[in-house]
Amino acid sequence: MAKAKTAYVCNECGSDYSKWQGQCGDCNAWNSLQEIRLAPAGGHVSASTRVSAAKGYAGVASQLQDLSEVDVESMPRLNTGIGELDRVLGGGLVAGSAILIGGHPGAGKSTLLLQLMCSLAQTMPALYVTGEESLQQVALRAHRLELPTSNLKMLTETDVEAILATCAQLQPRLIVVDSIQVVQLADISSAPGSVSQVRESAAALIRYAKQSNAILLLVGHVTKDGSIAGPKVLEHMIDCSLQLEGDNDSRYRTLRSHKNRFGAVNELGVFAMMENGLKEVKNPSSIFLSRGDTSAAGSLVMVIWEGTRPLLVELQALVDDSQMNNPRRVAIGLDQNRLTMLLAVLHRHGGLHTGDQDVFVNVVGGVRVSETGADLAMLLAIVSSLRDRALDQNLVVFGEVGLSGEIRPVPSGQERIREAAKHGFTRAIVPIANVPKTSTSKAKNGARIDDIDNMEIIGVRTLQEALEAL
Ligand code: TYD
Ligand code: MG
Repeated sequence: MAKAKTAYVCNECGSDYSKWQGQCGDCNAWNSLQEIRLAPAGGHVSASTRVSAAKGYAGVASQLQDLSEVDVESMPRLNTGIGELDRVLGGGLVAGSAILIGGHPGAGKSTLLLQLMCSLAQTMPALYVTGEESLQQVALRAHRLELPTSNLKMLTETDVEAILATCAQLQPRLIVVDSIQVVQLADISSAPGSVSQVRESAAALIRYAKQSNAILLLVGHVTKDGSIAGPKVLEHMIDCSLQLEGDNDSRYRTLRSHKNRFGAVNELGVFAMMENGLKEVKNPSSIFLSRGDTSAAGSLVMVIWEGTRPLLVELQALVDDSQMNNPRRVAIGLDQNRLTMLLAVLHRHGGLHTGDQDVFVNVVGGVRVSETGADLAMLLAIVSSLRDRALDQNLVVFGEVGLSGEIRPVPSGQERIREAAKHGFTRAIVPIANVPKTSTSKAKNGARIDDIDNMEIIGVRTLQEALEAL
């Protein structure tokens, strides 16, 4: 029998070392190296499913080919039947790909995959491997959600070799492994969920998927800081990494792609967790808006850009006399540093002092906003709360704020305004460069510009102008 080798792998970045060292040379993390025992080449996969070591992850022997000759027609997209999931995947599932679905416990990973598998199992062989829940639990849930349960093959198994043996027999087109942290290879001595187990188990499963052209969906738990528990290496091996996010208290879940070899990243899918499972939300703008009859000071609607579509979300700010030496700046769903910077801009270029005030900003509905297009809305909401004056309910705002108090344009201004018009907003404060030039846009798409024409669009160049417009 070949001698088992050991290697040292960084938990943070996945770099390999032959010797242990205190600090990772690549990402400079301390004490992140962990010993892993490499199984002898090909040895951990049973003979029927073994891929020769020379074939690597891709599972096919390499061969010299002209890029233009590579057959792309043979990679059709498989529609999942869940529109929001297809959107995040970049148009559907691709055969022979490995997809990781991460999320906190209770996010709804198992629910989403069960719904997906039950419906797709009607048209193709599918295997659902559950290492966490018992078959009864899964069956109960499927019955409660009134899903079609015939044709979906279930397996409660945590041994990767046994899973691969079943796959070899069943030849499924779709495989779900729930979750990668509980499966293990018998040849590797460490516990399930450890670096070596996760890495080698995932490698064996992914190799099988590539070789047999099946679609592999892996469930991964995330740690408190939001990264996939276990080694980062997992993210290098898979084709697509999705994260299901959302508070357990809130009904809404967002699905985001962090890596996608077959489509754009940062596309956002929105779901609602109902009594009968996860339901897609087709018009997400409407759920994040809670427009009551009376508007409150500090509340404002902004248009953000998520992937390929605009999204209207409500932003709230609260400015209050601070009881502390160090006034608090709290940003929920927004970048804290950005808030601090904007308050400095507000003081310097807007003449409004918040040094002795606590400032809280919150994005309603648990959405996380990472784009700079939210800057202007954040500032105006803060001003509204500071002055205790409610803003016009039919007002939307977007735009980036620069350090010298200038308002900078953001991408896709016209689509944002159009989305706001669609939802009945009648006024907008936007960067001057984002104001649609009616004559040209009319020529381009005459029919759809009408709703924008009815809107009062105020273009602003500087923070001063924006404050005056208010
Ligand atoms: P689950 O899919 O088990 O989460 P994960 O696999 O990501 O850990 O879903 C968990 C939560 O969703 C659970 O706390 C209960 C809730 N839920 C509903 O509200 N409605 C439903 O129909 C289902 C199936 C779950
Ligand atoms: Mg689960």
